[in-house]
Amino acid sequence: MIPLRPLERLPPVRVNVPPPGVKQVAPSPPVAKPPAIGPSPPAARTKFGIRGLDSMLGGGLLPARPYLLSGPTGSGKTLLGLQFLLEGIRLDEKVLLVAVDEPPAEILDNVRSFRWDLSRIHTLDANPGLQAFRRLGDVQEIKALHDVKSMQEMTDPNRKTQTGEDISLQSIYLKLRRQLEVVPFRRVLIDSMTAVRHFALRAGEDLQTERTEIQSLLRFLSEKGVTTLLTSQPSPPTVLTPETVLCRGEISLSRQWVGHSMERWIWVSRMRGMAHDTRMRSFHIGTDGITVASGEASETGGQAPATSP
Ligand SMILES: Nc1ncnc2c1ncn2[C@@H]1O[C@H](COP(=O)(O)OP(=O)(O)OP(=O)(O)O)[C@@H](O)[C@H]1O
Ligand SMILES: [Mg+2]
Repeated sequence: MIPLRPLERLPPVRVNVPPPGVKQVAPSPPVAKPPAIGPSPPAARTKFGIRGLDSMLGGGLLPARPYLLSGPTGSGKTLLGLQFLLEGIRLDEKVLLVAVDEPPAEILDNVRSFRWDLSRIHTLDANPGLQAFRRLGDVQEIKALHDVKSMQEMTDPNRKTQTGEDISLQSIYLKLRRQLEVVPFRRVLIDSMTAVRHFALRAGEDLQTERTEIQSLLRFLSEKGVTTLLTSQPSPPTVLTPETVLCRGEISLSRQWVGHSMERWIWVSRMRGMAHDTRMRSFHIGTDGITVASGEASETGGQAPATSP
């Protein structure tokens, strides 16, 4: 028989019993503090780094959207586009130039007087005139712009000819897809969309195909978080190009001889989803590139001039 052990003395259990007549209520969960009421933080903006222009845009462009940069030849589209990329470089972003109008070596030549450092701009050479590769000097310049290995990777091995036939929207789209798998570009400049469309039409693409391809390209870039600038010659008001319809906004440039000097103007023609200054401002191309006046252009009474001569 097992001997019975005395019961261990347990510590008394304290039970909160409400006094008679008082109903016990379960403790309520902690209440979250309501958020402090105040202005919502401003949406992040993609800046040009040009004070006058960024202020016209209320701080900059809305990121991850495509925008048109339109103006006649010599109005400053390529320069402004390059400054947009250089601002990205300054902010340590990855940026890409899709060079269609001119080969990269020529672009380097054109901006030499500005002493800009373009070495960190990645370049996708979509220029049909591969003659630029003929001279050793040019190849060295291209080396300086980005490493030759990545350029070889960018070059489509199925390139059939050295003419414009293979500069299709589809080939640019495929090359961009390949590039964006490797490098997370934040800014892309396509210079110019007019040339891309010209080559697309020459390759026999119909307008509907062209429109679908531009749409796929722009949607893809937006989904990847890229803010894209497409340069373009202004089209007649009666012609609505696909890029005009598909871009979220448009910045226009113009120039005109006034007496003996060249006057230049910039204005935001349209911009979806953000407040912006609609007035025109004068701009100047100086030793540091483009600077935009802080006030509106008084010379024209704030009216956008007709096309430049
Ligand atoms: N160092 C410089 N100083 C002042 N102006 C310059 C300098 N370099 C170029 N320019 C001016 O910049 C303009 C060329 O700009 P840009 O090449 O950006 O024009 P664009 O609109 O791209 O023309 P296109 O449609 O022909 O490609 C020219 O009018 C030229 O006079
Ligand atoms: Mg240009």
